[in-house]
Amino acid sequence: MVAYRIRRYRDEDYEAVREMFAMGMSEYVPTLCVHMLKQPWVILVLACTFCLLLTSSRSLLLPILAVTLLLATGRQVLGYVWSLYIEHCLREDLLDIRTTYLGSKGACFWVAEAEECVVGTVAARPSEEQPEELTLKRMSVRKDYRGLGIAKALCQTVIRFAQEHGCQAVVLNTLMVQHEARMMYESIGFCSYHQYVLPTVYGWLANFTVSKYRYDIPCVD
Ligand SMILES: CC(C)(COP(=O)(O)OP(=O)(O)OC[C@H]1O[C@@H](n2cnc3c(N)ncnc32)[C@H](O)[C@@H]1OP(=O)(O)O)[C@@H](O)C(=O)NCCC(=O)NCCS
Repeated sequence: MVAYRIRRYRDEDYEAVREMFAMGMSEYVPTLCVHMLKQPWVILVLACTFCLLLTSSRSLLLPILAVTLLLATGRQVLGYVWSLYIEHCLREDLLDIRTTYLGSKGACFWVAEAEECVVGTVAARPSEEQPEELTLKRMSVRKDYRGLGIAKALCQTVIRFAQEHGCQAVVLNTLMVQHEARMMYESIGFCSYHQYVLPTVYGWLANFTVSKYRYDIPCVD
């Protein structure tokens, strides 16, 4: 059993935290590709390309090559768009972690540390829509430290923080490809209360679904 402890973020964690976030998110490219391959319009494009080339060339080689090329190009484009999203997050709250999380009231950033390395992260800040709710963000655990209960412990830290600050609930967003994360949140008691497709062209094309989760803080009399 690996021993770990959860502590507040320190400036020397900066690079490790950003790297862990980028690594955790980039793991989703293969799952995203599978998700895209299940979209009806993608299946239609691939099937039409295959059938048209098969009937026009009367050869199997050309349609197979064309579909392979389309798949390889799609994989590259998806990887590129996803890396833009990761860079966007790194330029947002993760650019100046101290100011964003430790310099503002009702917010905090924690890391899980094991064997003197940062192996997990989580952040919390007041929700922009409902200030009495706390938003959980940037949950990530290093791959070789998963399945040890670290994410659960990080979640409990955020829930305790919410209780201490008199918040009514902890809320968070997950994407349709984050299956392990959803199972983890549900195992703690978070409930999904709203789902929507991202209202952008990319969102509709990819059926990019966001699930909102909520954990109500029990009232203490
Ligand atoms: C999601 C993530 C944080 C889970 O971290 P973890 O430390 O392995 O999770 P835990 O060990 O605390 O697991 C807690 C519960 O989650 C569920 N769970 C976690 N990983 C799972 C998996 N691969 N399959 C099934 N259930 C899983 C289980 O219910 C588990 O409880 P149990 O061990 O009592 O059965 C980790 O996989 C990760 O960093 N993923 C990439 C980044 C990411 O998706 N972040 C979430 C953004 S919303």
